[in-house]
Amino acid sequence: MTNERMLIVGGRRLEGMVRISGAKNSAVAVIPATILSSTPCVIENLPDIEDVRVSVETLRHLGATVDWDPAGGVMQVDPSTINKTEVPLELSRKMRASSYYIGVLLARYGEARVPMPGGCDIGRRPIDQHLKGMRALGATVETSYGMVIAESPGLVGNDIFMDMVTVGGTINVMLAATRAEGMTIIHNAAKEPHIVDLANFLNSMGCRIKGAGTDTIRIRGTREMVARRPYAIIPDQIETGTLMIAAAGTHGDVTITGCIPTHMEALTAKLLEMGARVDEKDDAIRVRSLGGHRSVSFKTQVYPGFPTDLQQPMSALLCTASGTSRVVENIFESRFRHLAEMERMGANIRVYEQTAVIEGVPQLHAAAVEASDLRAGAALVIAGLMAQGTTEIYNTHYIDRGYEHLEDKLNSLGAKISRFTP
Ligand code: EPU
Repeated sequence: MTNERMLIVGGRRLEGMVRISGAKNSAVAVIPATILSSTPCVIENLPDIEDVRVSVETLRHLGATVDWDPAGGVMQVDPSTINKTEVPLELSRKMRASSYYIGVLLARYGEARVPMPGGCDIGRRPIDQHLKGMRALGATVETSYGMVIAESPGLVGNDIFMDMVTVGGTINVMLAATRAEGMTIIHNAAKEPHIVDLANFLNSMGCRIKGAGTDTIRIRGTREMVARRPYAIIPDQIETGTLMIAAAGTHGDVTITGCIPTHMEALTAKLLEMGARVDEKDDAIRVRSLGGHRSVSFKTQVYPGFPTDLQQPMSALLCTASGTSRVVENIFESRFRHLAEMERMGANIRVYEQTAVIEGVPQLHAAAVEASDLRAGAALVIAGLMAQGTTEIYNTHYIDRGYEHLEDKLNSLGAKISRFTP
């Protein structure tokens, strides 16, 4: 972690074409899933972000042989050299997805010791559903001094009902069930695009997973998984959305390439409602705006609803939309900390528990602001692009957790963003 800050000269219109990187939340699931393979795996289209670096460190700590070319986005993992089943605290506290090592290590080696995961501080983030799922597969799971200790001589498939829709819980149970004897059925599963991506990766190694992308996922366990060909992960839905919002916020004209427009429908609908123009092609989205945005209201929901990860960037755009917007955060209990920073930039916002009421103002003004988590950072970047003057963002390391070269991409579209360390 450094003291580095970002400087954004606001008021510049974004124009041009920009390519989307591989999805963070797929990468952090597919990378641990390589442990399940009996042969080396090649993963392509991985983003060069901090969470991928932590994933590489974790695999190497466990003993895997990892070759990663960050510029090319390609990683080769040979899991046959793994000789540990414990993840150290200093790695697990760095990201939420560390919990996936419980599922994969348990499936592959019958034991896992993983400290409770860290990740963005956006409210309570228990993993009770992950552990409930693993117990249902026959594992003994205890938590002691903040360490999850899971063991099983051999998992057995079962019917598992998730008490709530959880992305991480669905992924972790899916990973654990890959080698269980017989059939596992996850009911009330999450449907996010990266769940489908992970299932496709596992199936490419010989797993038999059906129903990913629906709320019932069936996994027939298999003893041996073999990586036969390189697997390219999907483009990042949240990076796509962040750039779409930045294009609208700067009254720009930006074509976002290498993305999946159908993943963006909830956001596209809201941008159209606000008065922006959105045109979709097979793998590209063009967002154009002349400003004069209308206020809109939305509630965050599980996929295909409006994603919580875009709630923060979207609320920046709403700060200057005419009228009153209401934003309800349904997924996480504390994901409004960016709003106080945007008030410092002249936004007019009131928060009532899980609802933010945003009264549009004509213009945001630059200020020194602090990112409190990854998507809060993205929201402040967008607010900085929209504001008059030069905005200074503290805690840029949060942004680097999940966006590949964000300022290079924005600068290529005409933004003026730099970093400095005081
Ligand atoms: N929950 C429980 N018990 C559980 C699991 C979840 O109560 O066992 C609750 C959580 O507290 C939360 C809700 O269920 O209120 C949803 O949590 P979920 O498990 O779906 O989220 P996650 O797996 O922790 C992933 C993404 C997040 C994204 C959410 C929601 C990864 C690594 N993280 O988190 O991404 O916000 O799904 O879509 O995939 C981000 O990228 O900025 C980010 C935070």
